[in-house]
Amino acid sequence: MASGKPFVIAIDGPAAAGKGTLAERLAAHYGLAYLDTGLLYRAIGRLMADRGFDLDDPVIAGQIAEALDPEDLTHPGLRGREAGEFASRVAVHPSVRSALVAFQRGFAGRAPGAVLDGRDIGTVICPDADVKIFVTASPEVRARRRTDELAAKGRDVDYERILAEVRERDARDSGRATAPLKAADDAVILDTSALDREGAFRAAVAIVDARR
Ligand code: DC
Repeated sequence: MASGKPFVIAIDGPAAAGKGTLAERLAAHYGLAYLDTGLLYRAIGRLMADRGFDLDDPVIAGQIAEALDPEDLTHPGLRGREAGEFASRVAVHPSVRSALVAFQRGFAGRAPGAVLDGRDIGTVICPDADVKIFVTASPEVRARRRTDELAAKGRDVDYERILAEVRERDARDSGRATAPLKAADDAVILDTSALDREGAFRAAVAIVDARR
């Protein structure tokens, strides 16, 4: 990927599948830029909730998305479960999704290329990506990882509740009419249920190297 056309890696998959960690490591490994597209939806959801707007209002959500500022992505409360829930709700609005397309494509189009992670990168945002990986794991494994992660931070968490949230988020992200969560036809499915982070990274590098 020395010169010419930017090299683009699209990483999609359900919540808590380990996409973010994997995408960030791949970007560092190949010297590419990294964009966590979930952060865009999280920032919109957070802004709406903070301002007391109805998350289910497509007009206001679209206006907030159009006016989104890079500064908004540095809000400290974007990584948590609540912001993830808000994000999943505003992400159903076509007005929000269309407002974010140009920014994401612009990011992917800059040399030397980029790794983008999300739900619709391989299907909608970058259908011509050089590599598409759909990272997944069973809901039980994802809920277990999330529970352990939160417990390690000293948080009081209940596995069954997290599992219910994971299933609910899957249903909303997969069931929406616009750009639902689904693997592109030409994506490689990477099931990390039986892999640790290192194993998942090695498997992803093998997939990318096979396509370079
Ligand atoms: O990847 P994440 O957990 O930060 O994403 C939060 C929510 O944002 C997710 O449940 C659905 C939405 N999202 C989306 O619809 N499309 C993307 N490309 C990224 C995230």
